Amino acid sequence: MESSPITAPSTTVPGTTAPSIIAPSILAADFAHLADAVRDIEGAADWVHVDVMDNHFVPNLTIGLPVVQSLRKATTIPFDVHLMITDPERWAPGYAEAGAYNVTFHAEACENPVALAKTLRAAGAKAGLAIDRDTPVEPYLELLPYLDTLLIMTIKAGFGGQKFLPEMLDKVRDVRRRITAKDLQVRLEVDGGIAADTIEQAAAAGADAFVAGTAVYGADDPAEAVRKLRALAERSLAHS
Ligand code: DX5
Ligand code: ZN
Repeated sequence: MESSPITAPSTTVPGTTAPSIIAPSILAADFAHLADAVRDIEGAADWVHVDVMDNHFVPNLTIGLPVVQSLRKATTIPFDVHLMITDPERWAPGYAEAGAYNVTFHAEACENPVALAKTLRAAGAKAGLAIDRDTPVEPYLELLPYLDTLLIMTIKAGFGGQKFLPEMLDKVRDVRRRITAKDLQVRLEVDGGIAADTIEQAAAAGADAFVAGTAVYGADDPAEAVRKLRALAERSLAHS
């Protein structure tokens, strides 16, 4: 199965040319063994998704920069940092400087997303903008040329293990239409409740990067769970 073009992990530049990105969220892993959790998905996943929460933007508290700096040394897998924090202008550049591949901040927390995206790119990272459940995407479509990643939350940000909200896929379709119409190089990521029974509909709507916490780290074999999710996503992409 490893040699199948459908299940093989991408070997190209991460995040740029792979048809679909699978980004397991370590929020669902054992926080006492984070380095092991990341190594468990090396060779299978494209990115590792790191959920940073500040108990202010969202009512939950997870990990911050010191943990990311330490974990970065434990693996070569690209980091996809999802900042669910207020004042991202103050904190986001530090994650880029720590070597994160992609740094995503929330539209609801940022006054000038284009300026912050430029700062992140200047610091050597890809720049991502996240749209939470209750935020319409239309006002942000014109910012796509300044972004590398647009993340559509398919739950309300703050906690893992929530139920996927299929109505969020209308936003995914709107963003995909704009990316296609303007021929933009932007990853369209979905986050929340992504699992074997939901990833195909997200891919069919136009997503090409998939965060999965519970579906990967709740499985007996996280790497195998990643391969299964990739196969489902790419089958759906091939049909759409
Ligand atoms: C929640 C986080 C998600 C979370 C997803 O706010 O942004 O990345 O880990 O977890 P699952 O896949 O369990 O919904
Ligand atoms: Zn996330």
